[in-house]
Amino acid sequence: MEFKSRPLMPNFGVEILDIDLRENMDDESFADLMSLYFTHSVLLFRAQDLDPAGQASLAHRFGRPKIETRKQFNIKAHPEVSTIGNVRDNEDKPAAFFVRGGFGWHTDGTAACHVDAATFLYAVEVPREGGDTLLCSTATAYENIDPELRQRLAGLRMLSSFHAHNDPLHETDPESFVPLTPTERAALPPVWHDVVQTHPVTGRKVLYMNFDPLEFDGADLSQGKALLQAALEVATREDLVYRHRWTPGDLLIWDNHAMLHSGTATDMYEDDRRLMHRSFVYTEPTERPLPNLEELNRIFMPV
Ligand code: SIN
Repeated sequence: MEFKSRPLMPNFGVEILDIDLRENMDDESFADLMSLYFTHSVLLFRAQDLDPAGQASLAHRFGRPKIETRKQFNIKAHPEVSTIGNVRDNEDKPAAFFVRGGFGWHTDGTAACHVDAATFLYAVEVPREGGDTLLCSTATAYENIDPELRQRLAGLRMLSSFHAHNDPLHETDPESFVPLTPTERAALPPVWHDVVQTHPVTGRKVLYMNFDPLEFDGADLSQGKALLQAALEVATREDLVYRHRWTPGDLLIWDNHAMLHSGTATDMYEDDRRLMHRSFVYTEPTERPLPNLEELNRIFMPV
């Protein structure tokens, strides 16, 4: 199927036009959509009317959904979908994952067992001001870094830990989520990742960056962090960053193999509401086998 589309940025991203994601898409058209996703790294669909069931079913078509690890925010009937934002329940407890001030450039899943591949972010409620999401391409960053930095990063590996990323978020905002249980923590051991990787579908070289590494193989911790910081500066050059200003009904899907993203300042909408539905999906092929996905998903099912 020939999708009508327009670019988001010269180097990545397309908005797919005239599409209602609730309608059943035949396999051939869906394969074309996946091809656009892998080629452009980010898909934007506006004016959608997706309930959690519809989002979960789209996630299953994309690949193998991963259940979010802060499980109190997973929607019980559709645990492939979890809530993020500043909304609160009837008892004034957080009804979505929200860390005041806890944002910065990252790749979803680098600190768990595997990069999460596709992130789905669907806007349910958006504040009048702020709450934007930023995206930049790590494939472009790899192409733009100077040869010396490229050589320093080649062969560099880092040990990433979900807890090294997550525990400080909890310290920043202790009421933001219930800490993981010992069983949940043990299910997410640290994992080694190459900093320079080959995208499993496009074959492009991409940078794989995690900014809370425990250690590096190929550099000491401070040298390794400085190298990543130098690469981040190239990746986030102002003209290479896409800023998405949300409207309810927008769905963004990005490829964590090839993108970094960041939330933005939360204090701008303290008195307003933001509610997003997020899903993570392992698309295939992955760059290495997925360990124990069924077991992990069982552990993080909402109760
Ligand atoms: C995320 O970091 O995955 C969410 C970004 C956002 O809420 O804007």
